[in-house]
Amino acid sequence: MLIAHITDPHLGLDTRFLPGHPGPQEALRRALSHVRKLDPAPEVLLITGDLADSGAESDYDTLRTVLADTLPSPADGGPRVWAVLGNHDDRAAARRILGEMLDPAADAPEGLICLHTQHGGLHFIGLDTVVPRRPHGELDDTQLNWLARQLQACAGEPVVIFMHHPPLVSGMEVMDRCGLLRGREQLGALVRAHGNVQLIAAGHLHRPVVGLLGGAPVLVEPSCSHQLELDLRTHGQLAVRLEPPKVGLYRWTPEDGLACHFSHVHAYPGPFVI
Ligand SMILES: [Fe+2]
Repeated sequence: MLIAHITDPHLGLDTRFLPGHPGPQEALRRALSHVRKLDPAPEVLLITGDLADSGAESDYDTLRTVLADTLPSPADGGPRVWAVLGNHDDRAAARRILGEMLDPAADAPEGLICLHTQHGGLHFIGLDTVVPRRPHGELDDTQLNWLARQLQACAGEPVVIFMHHPPLVSGMEVMDRCGLLRGREQLGALVRAHGNVQLIAAGHLHRPVVGLLGGAPVLVEPSCSHQLELDLRTHGQLAVRLEPPKVGLYRWTPEDGLACHFSHVHAYPGPFVI
């Protein structure tokens, strides 16, 4: 099975201060058009937050429209689409507009958008790391206890976790200050105890980053809109650099396990058959 992953489209972002940026809506359309052209086609598309830059309903409407215009419905061979929210999002507005893409599990902690669904032999568990009006993320005991129950219920079965704030320390100091500041160690302990989490997919850093938590790979996909400058200096600066956006394409089978590919949205010369 193939899983596509895009993140941080930041719809509504004013990109006039980013010369050369096509605008977040066009950037999203390009990324989704790229997903549409992938062959074989992904069965699942994960979107890991910062869907809208300021949480406006109109931007969630735009997301719905661009998705509908770009990708076929699952009935017509398109991917199942599931999303979690990021620190720029607004839970109530997103929930009103995005419906089943953000459908919390029946037993999800009150007020949180935590998902648990299945497809192609995998469980997909979406975590809600949002702390309203704050840039950092947290997993509190209520959500961790819910996750423990989900993992227990699917003991021995493979799981993909997706969330906005990645459970790792990147070394990008400014971003680490607004990273997952609570619950990382407990999440790692749960992942290790379950033993069958194949992947933790995340966003937020606007850079491609790979880490490890509880024995599972943590994969941070770059934004489909704009990237952050790679700056690992102490007291480094936060700056945008328009490096090429990518789509994550993760291949998983029961026999082979996981392989993560990164597919450029921009077209480059080739292919040259050799
Ligand atoms: Fe973001």
